[in-house]
Parts: sequence; structure tokens; C-alpha cells
Amino acid sequence: MTQCPMKSLFERIGGIDAIRATVVKLYERLLTDGRLSPFFEGIDIETLRRSQNAFLTMATGGPNNYTGEGLRHAHARLVKVGLSDEHFDAVITHMGEAMSELGVEKSLINEAAALVETTRADVLNK
Ligand code: HEM
Repeated sequence: MTQCPMKSLFERIGGIDAIRATVVKLYERLLTDGRLSPFFEGIDIETLRRSQNAFLTMATGGPNNYTGEGLRHAHARLVKVGLSDEHFDAVITHMGEAMSELGVEKSLINEAAALVETTRADVLNK
């Protein structure tokens, strides 16, 4: 059967369970990657959860409460201490690998990556 084009990426990926599983795997990866983990030092678990939830809704085109300004503000301190394109790229790669491990098909991973890509200038305060 052909995929209905109106179905959101969120639904096509497999709904809330698939998304939660992706986020758990993604943050495990981020926190154990020596290039990225220093940025998460001292961040409390509640903030991390908010960032996870916002990240996943953005990555799947769901409704989110973050404007570009919100993302700029949330990462401004990190940019001052060196957050750059290479870190952003690494997060996108980890997200793709986490999804791949969970059996999400490549075309959907590419769609999610393209959605995350739209936040680059804001996250990196460019
Ligand atoms: C790739 C696109 C990204 C998105 C969509 C995103 C999303 C978010 C959001 C929505 C928040 C705010 C949470 C809150 O209000 O409490 C946040 C905070 C945070 N993000 Fe990101 N993020 C991205 C990239 C990154 C990268 C590349 C890093 C570092 C490697 C990072 C590290 C953090 C940290 C440490 C915080 C907490 C900041 C603080 O409270 O001081 N994020 N992120």
C-alpha cells in the first residue's frame, strides 16, 4: 500500500514508543561521546528531559514550544565555550545511527535529519 503523504513523520516512524526508544538511545550516545559529553556536564536531569522532548518533536515535525530565539538562548552559553558545526553534525549522525539500530528506514532517517538541520543556525547562534 502506498504511504499516505499526510501522515506525519512522527507516525511513520512508529509513534511515541519508537520516538521514546530513539531518544533514550540518542542521549546514551551523546553522553558517552567524549566530543559532546563535556557540554552536558552539570545539566540537571529535568533540563535534559525537556531538551530530549523538544528535540524529538522537532526531529519528527511535531508541534514544539521552541522558537528560534528559544533555541538560540538555550545554546548561547554552549556556543561561548566552543559548541560548533562539528558537534551539531555529530548529534545528527548519532540520531541517524540510533534510529537505524531501531530499524527505522533510511528515507525516514533522512527526513528527520533534514528537519533537525533547519535548527542549525539558531542552535549555533549564527
Ligand atoms: C541538533 C539540534 C538541537 C536541538 C533541536 C536542541 C534542542 C534543545 C532544547 C529545546 C533545549 C532547551 C531545554 C530547556 O529549555 O530546558 C536544549 C538545551 C541544551 N542542549 Fe540542545 N539541541 C540541539 C543541539 C545540541 C548540541 C549539538 C548540543 C551539545 C553537544 C546540545 C546540548 C544542549 C545542552 C547542554 C542543553 C542545556 C543547556 C542549559 O540548560 O544550560 N544541544 N537543546
